Amino acid sequence: MENSYKKPDLKSLYFDQEVEKIPSLEGKTIAITGTTSGTGFIAAKTVAEKGAKTLLLNRKSDRSKESYDLLMDTCSGADFVNVECDLQSFSSVKKASGIINHLCEDGLDVLCNNAGVMALKDQPTMDGFDIQMQTNHLSHFLLTKELFLSLKKAEEKRSEARIVNHSSISRFGAKKLEAKYFEKRGGSLGGNGSNILNKILLGMILINARWYRYSQTKLANAAFTACLHEKLQAKNSNIKALIAHPGLAITDLQSTTIKDGGMGSFMTGKMMGGGQTMEDGAIGIIKCIADPDAMSGDFYGPGSGKMDMKGPVVKFDLEELYDNRETKDLLWNKSCEAIGQDFLI
Ligand SMILES: NC(=O)c1ccc[n+]([C@@H]2O[C@H](COP(=O)([O-])OP(=O)(O)OC[C@H]3O[C@@H](n4cnc5c(N)ncnc54)[C@H](OP(=O)(O)O)[C@@H]3O)[C@@H](O)[C@H]2O)c1
Repeated sequence: MENSYKKPDLKSLYFDQEVEKIPSLEGKTIAITGTTSGTGFIAAKTVAEKGAKTLLLNRKSDRSKESYDLLMDTCSGADFVNVECDLQSFSSVKKASGIINHLCEDGLDVLCNNAGVMALKDQPTMDGFDIQMQTNHLSHFLLTKELFLSLKKAEEKRSEARIVNHSSISRFGAKKLEAKYFEKRGGSLGGNGSNILNKILLGMILINARWYRYSQTKLANAAFTACLHEKLQAKNSNIKALIAHPGLAITDLQSTTIKDGGMGSFMTGKMMGGGQTMEDGAIGIIKCIADPDAMSGDFYGPGSGKMDMKGPVVKFDLEELYDNRETKDLLWNKSCEAIGQDFLI
């Protein structure tokens, strides 16, 4: 089994100038999921260097410990707090939320739901859901619900708060959200085929089940943002719902998929040569977290925004694909059903 690939050695083109534009974040508390590598690591380092108290939400592992040590070594004087949070487990998410709410007596300014896995095998979590859907969306839905009062507290005290989600170009890999991916059917959602494109019929590209499950999760991230934006605006809230996608960024995401048999190392190496650095890939979520001009409902992505794999980050509007009544109702109702609770805004 192939388990690694040679990462292309690209240079960051936009990161430094974008970070310069971000104002001081002193006095703010920012929680980010999945900071052991990739865009989450870069976002955590950046906001901590700008003065934010930064909560690192990671499952327990050597990677978690090593990345925490690296952040502490490279950002002198920064205020990092490691909070154990395994997104494959609702009980772990609830426990982490209790700790974060306790740490944030003065409010939580930003929750960035960044962590993700891609095109993994068809396997259930301990809660019975698809490993990709629970990690990428359902646990973030629960986390947002559990931290909502802390976000409201920051909004009241410092005039705004933000919820940031991280999607992908893969949101377009699914034509619509399907209820079964939000149900306790992990392990019976199509199997483990690994080719990205395994069937081309009459000009219609059908992606295989691993990638289709990933697309469902990344469409769910976008639909969740559209729901939050709509509900928060209806309440005249100053909590902003924002979203980004990183294009194609050289992180550990691809390596994890290769290890799981979802991609080949040779083709991955070729493909990633057309991508960008993890720093440039992180600009979208960093703007969502900290750009003073960011508005609720903004979507940030590279190039022309929607589909490009690299380039300077621009913002665009939420899209009809998920910002429609049927999709938003399905997303909200099935996510509440999965976590076994209502999420009232
Ligand atoms: N890189 C790209 O080209 C690309 C493209 C489109 C979208 N994205 C999105 O960008 C986001 C960040 O990914 P990345 O590219 O930066 O990949 P990455 O380097 O692999 O980072 C993913 C992070 O998610 C964490 N994670 C995975 N499973 C977890 C769990 N059960 N509990 C807690 N944390 C968990 C990982 O932690 P562990 O160390 O514990 O595994 C890691 O910190 C994801 O949502 C991904 O879908 C990336």
